[in-house]
Amino acid sequence: MRSKLLVLITVLALLACLAPALASGHEKAIVAHRGASAYLPEHTLEGYAMGYGQGAHYIEPDLMLTQDGVPIALHDRSLERTTNVAEVFPDRAREDGLFYAIDFTLAEIKQLAVIERVDRDTRELTFPDRFPNLHSELVFRVPTLAEIIELVQGLNVSTGRNVGIYPETKSSAWHAEQGYDFEAIVLEVLAAYGYTTADDNVLVQSFEADSLLRLRELGTELNLVQLIGGGAAYDPMVTAEGLDVIATYAQGIGPSMTRIIDGDGNWVNDNFLVREAQARELVVHPYTMRADRLPGYVETFDELLELFLFEAGVDGVFTDHPDLAIRFLRERQ
Ligand code: G3P
Ligand code: CA
Repeated sequence: MRSKLLVLITVLALLACLAPALASGHEKAIVAHRGASAYLPEHTLEGYAMGYGQGAHYIEPDLMLTQDGVPIALHDRSLERTTNVAEVFPDRAREDGLFYAIDFTLAEIKQLAVIERVDRDTRELTFPDRFPNLHSELVFRVPTLAEIIELVQGLNVSTGRNVGIYPETKSSAWHAEQGYDFEAIVLEVLAAYGYTTADDNVLVQSFEADSLLRLRELGTELNLVQLIGGGAAYDPMVTAEGLDVIATYAQGIGPSMTRIIDGDGNWVNDNFLVREAQARELVVHPYTMRADRLPGYVETFDELLELFLFEAGVDGVFTDHPDLAIRFLRERQ
């Protein structure tokens, strides 16, 4: 009898750690940052599928638009650091030498091969021990938001799980300058796949408050997350007044890790941000936990996760290593 009870408790604990959560102070959400990007090139369907298989609660695509207004998964405004665009379309850079995604149709972008992120000038791998660029027959493609949703929703059917998506509207003001209503386009795609209410398993994030406000202006009920960078421009957001404002339009914040623990390993303002955000019912999902880019104040990835998830008490983390974070949570319960 006692052993059955133990098994039941263990199973419930396991399910709790796998369940996505929005309410703060309960389960911990593991977000597959750009997919399982420690193992496969970022923002590829293969990388998202791997992150899903590793047990992530959310799959994170960064979004940019093509010239014909299709949301695609891409971190940078331009394509040269994560694709072979300079080989396929050598004459299509702007005067600054960059190949902007917005200058290419989806059909053109689909001709590109996604590569592991490299330095723009030296072409050296940003993460030298990650997936190599071997120039073989293996070709990864730039996915659309629609394809990503179909992948995640399909896997949700075939596995019986309920993994969410966590799209980021990148460079919102810049898209507006180029003449696109980025937020309206993204909402249209999300709605086409049934993401319309606060109960739907999607969190839309942005560094730009105006992007989130535009989403609200368009009437969305989806849960929104305000990203907070480490630079001085974001300082007003990490005050009581700033959090009061964020709480009027968002359900969470995604701060740089350095907003909680600084580079020397010191607590920032005695964990003010986590405490005050959660007091306003904002979930806190800091970015980005990387086992191969540990901050100097920890020796292991588990130490880092312990610090943020349990000592700081955040509600989830963006990580390039969803497998390690899920394993940590399972063992920690
Ligand atoms: O969106 C959270 C985190 O991904 C922010 O950083 O630059 O990887 O989009 P970035
Ligand atoms: Ca992001």
